[in-house]
Amino acid sequence: MNLRGKVKERLGRKFDEEIRFFKGWISNTRAVGSIIPTSSVTARRMASVINPASGLPVLELGPGTGAITKAILETGLAPDKVVSIEYSTEFYTHLLERFEGVQFINGDAFDLDTTLAALRDQQFDSVISAVPLLNFPTHRRVALIEDLLSRIPVGRPVVQISYGPVSPVPAMPGRYQISHLDFVVRNIPPAQLWTYRRTH
Ligand SMILES: C[S@@+](CC[C@H](N)C(=O)[O-])C[C@H]1O[C@@H](n2cnc3c(N)ncnc32)[C@H](O)[C@@H]1O
Repeated sequence: MNLRGKVKERLGRKFDEEIRFFKGWISNTRAVGSIIPTSSVTARRMASVINPASGLPVLELGPGTGAITKAILETGLAPDKVVSIEYSTEFYTHLLERFEGVQFINGDAFDLDTTLAALRDQQFDSVISAVPLLNFPTHRRVALIEDLLSRIPVGRPVVQISYGPVSPVPAMPGRYQISHLDFVVRNIPPAQLWTYRRTH
């Protein structure tokens, strides 16, 4: 295929993703959160925290159209080392077709023991999350972060994308450490990236 054909194919795919995302958004605004898929710049920044040499799988939450899943795989992690939980069955079905070998689970990230089932005792290298935390009450956000931190080694990060000016999860002194990873202007809307870690 020539360059023009490749560009046309890429744009077609991108457009298809946005339509799919938009349909998901219309049918369930609360669950999807943002209107447009995460930009590749943002997705790569989030995936940059992964240590593919750890030998542990990575846990992704809320993959949507798969922009962040793609960036995770581009770190060199084998597809079967990615466990990705998506609530929407429509997105889930699309993701299964798009990324062969990735362990997608159609379920709720806020109920991890049930959703992970046989993988409930699995340790992960890190967590990359795009679940729309701001749409959930604060106590559920804190509970989710603490649950996620119990599934990764001390010191490893949970990365969360959000669109507000402050961390979507409040500080809990002595329980976890919050760091601002980046502010990505090349995202619609501009995105804030946060990391949460246990220090002991
Ligand atoms: C802001 S979108 C993520 C967009 C994605 N990064 C992309 O580029 O397409 C949030 C995603 O989280 C999913 N989601 C919302 N609540 C969830 C939950 N409780 N468990 C798992 N996924 C959830 C939504 O269905 C949606 O796909």
